[in-house]
Formats: sequence, C-alpha cells, structure tokens
Amino acid sequence: MAGLGQSGRGVDDVIAELTDKRANDVRWADGKTFGMVYNGGPGVHEVADQAARLYLHENALNTNAFPSLGAIQREVVNWTADLLHGSDLEEGPAAGFLTSGGTESILCSVLAARERAAAERGITEPEIVLAESAHAAFHKAAHNFGLTVRTAPVRADWTADVDAMAELVGPNTAVVVGSAPQYPQGVQDDIGAIAALAESVGANCHVDACMGGFVLPFAEMLGRDVTPWDFRVPGVTTISADIHKLGYAPKGVSVVLHRTKQSRKYQTFVFDRWLGGFYASPNMQGTRSGLPMACAWAVIAHLGVDGYVDLTRHTLDNADRFRAGVAGIDGIQVLGDGQFHLAALAADPSFQPEIDMFALGDALLERGWFHDRQTPPDSLHSTISNTNTGVIDDYLADLAECTASVVGERNADRSTNYATLE
Ligand SMILES: Cc1ncc(COP(=O)(O)O)c(C=O)c1O
Repeated sequence: MAGLGQSGRGVDDVIAELTDKRANDVRWADGKTFGMVYNGGPGVHEVADQAARLYLHENALNTNAFPSLGAIQREVVNWTADLLHGSDLEEGPAAGFLTSGGTESILCSVLAARERAAAERGITEPEIVLAESAHAAFHKAAHNFGLTVRTAPVRADWTADVDAMAELVGPNTAVVVGSAPQYPQGVQDDIGAIAALAESVGANCHVDACMGGFVLPFAEMLGRDVTPWDFRVPGVTTISADIHKLGYAPKGVSVVLHRTKQSRKYQTFVFDRWLGGFYASPNMQGTRSGLPMACAWAVIAHLGVDGYVDLTRHTLDNADRFRAGVAGIDGIQVLGDGQFHLAALAADPSFQPEIDMFALGDALLERGWFHDRQTPPDSLHSTISNTNTGVIDDYLADLAECTASVVGERNADRSTNYATLE
C-alpha cells in the first residue's frame, strides 16, 4: 500500500501531515495571490465554515431526499437571475441550475445550444463561433459534445473581432460566445453585436460572465460605466456566473442561467428505462455535494447586495491602483484597456532589452506574489479582488524592484500554468 498505508492513523496525526503538505501552496490569505482564491473577509469565512460543516455530507443528487438543497438551488439561482435582469423578461423569468464551476456551466450551456439547434433547426453538424480569447472550457465543451469550433481573432484592443465572427456565423451555428469580461486581458466583448449575430441565424448566444457575473452588476450600482451585457441585451440566451470566484463562496459553485425554461430543458438529462428507476440530472454530475451549494447560499445571504457592492468597491479600487502603479514602472505595461478587475501584465516593447515576463513572475514569486503565466503574448495574469485589499502598495513596490532586477535576464522555462496533468 503505497503512500497512505495499511493501518489508519489518529486524527491529529492525519491533520498534522495535511497541514505540512500545504507548506508550498500559495499564500492567498496574505493577499499575495492574483487569482485562484478570492477572499471575502472574516465574516464570509465564518459563515461559509459553518455552512460547510452543516452540509459536509449532504447529497444534492436527490432533492426529494434533501429538499433543503432544492430550495437552496432555487433561491440562489433566482437571486442571480434577478441580479442579471432575468426576472422580468417578456418570455417569463429566466431559469437555471447550480453547477460545480465555470467549466461545468459552460459545458451545460454548449450542450443546451447543441440540443436546441438539433430540435428546433434540424442541425446535425453544429458549430460554435467564438474569439480566441474565449475560455478554453468552450473548446472542451465542443470536443466533448461534437461541435466544430470556428475561431475569430481579437482586435487590437483584445475584444472579440465581431466582423470576423460574422464571417464565421452560418446556418450550422448553434451558439455564438461573448465574454464579460474575458479572462486573458480582462476586456469586455461587444455583447450587443455578438447577440445580434446569433439572433440573425436563430442560434444561442452564451455570455461567459464567470469572472464578471458577480462584479459588473455591482460596478454598475457604484456608478461605473458598464456596457450592457446581461439579459437586458436582446438575443442573450444563456449566461454563466461563478459564485466561487468574485461571489466569494468556496470552490465548487457556479450558476448557469437560461433566458427561458424551455431553453433550460435542453441541458437536462432524463432517463426512465434503468433498473435503478427514474433518473434525472440537471448538469454534468451525478452525486452532487451539497457543501458548495450551501456555502454559496450562506455567503450570498450574509453579504446581500450591499455587501457585494462594498467588496466590489474594494476590488475596483485595488484594480485602479494596480493599473495606475504599473503605468509608472518602466519596462512593463497592462495590455488593453480593461475597466474591471482583470489585467495582463506584459513587457513594454519600447523598453529594451525587453523584460522577460516569466523571469519577472519568478522574481515576484520569490517574494510571495503569485500570478498565473499566460501566452501569447507572454504575460502575467492578474485577477484583482478584495483578496488584495491592503497590499497593493507593497505589491507595486516589489513589482518595481523585481522589474528592475530582471532587466536582461532570460527565463528558460516557457511553460504556462495550465500545462500540468499529473
Ligand atoms: C472567463 C472565464 N470563464 C470560464 C472560466 C472557467 O471557470 P472554472 O475554472 O471555474 O471552471 C474561467 C476561469 O477562470 C474564466 O475566467
């Protein structure tokens, strides 16, 4: 018996080893991580901890056995639909489900688009039209569900090139994708134009608001200029919004919303010829942990809209200061003109020798600051959030010193973070 062994061990011993195992993990609780974990503060931790203990073992596979999880799902989905202006639609209220995360929400939306295209338009060779900035999860969905991907470039400002997308949309298009905002550079696509393109052929339009779903509505409430992207935009059929990102719930929970109940039906799976009896499943999972669902409910109930507005104020203030600080450092720049909480740090080509961004990433990591590496172009991904409240000035001081220290250095390791599959 390798590793974990034959005979069991005491609780203290087990927990001590687990604690030791974490020694090299990023120190997100110090605010030094730009992505991966989002820290809503002590009250959010407390309510999530207690909810997690209550729902550690519960299973949402069967909401007849756990009606509380059915109610939790309904309440969180309805609250989110309201936030994204899906409650008072002409077609009736938007409908959705909780999933385990952004990828699963995207898988569900692409599957639903394929099923709708087949049922309502007779499409047997479905296609998905997206920009090269759209999250990799759409390619995973296309791969899993047999859609052909038609990829358009981005414009100089990193937004999806909608004219190029228009060239790719046709009678086989099942879904057209826009992001609010996209992950790599944090800019928002022209959702109005993308939704109109989808509508022109009767296809779905999915808005990927995994990152923005719990930021943009509150940014708007704070008086920021937010170009419409949610169900107020005609032609938007589905939206993904991750509560486990800037919704500040622990990992494992996202919302997928459909403009209509009919559209939602296309993502569900129902099977009644099994010896185990009638089987219905709303998303990709079978057995479904109740823990993240309950934590999401508890965090939303604890924060309310007002709490999210406060967290978003901190997030946007941190992001503004981040961008302004970077602008004052020779050799690096933020790519594009993102208005929200994501930024890609890249070399400024007018500065020679050009800064090796991965060498800079390593130098920052030596001081405890973690960024995901991304390419092309080589850049350091930064999702800024309330996690970074109180440390932005320290970060900028270290960033300036580290940038100066790596001038002329070359980093032999060209790998990016999502490349490991152990
Ligand atoms: C815009 C966007 N969409 C989708 C995803 C996928 O979400 P997840 O990692 O929760 O599956 C991410 C993750 O960062 C994202 O930023």
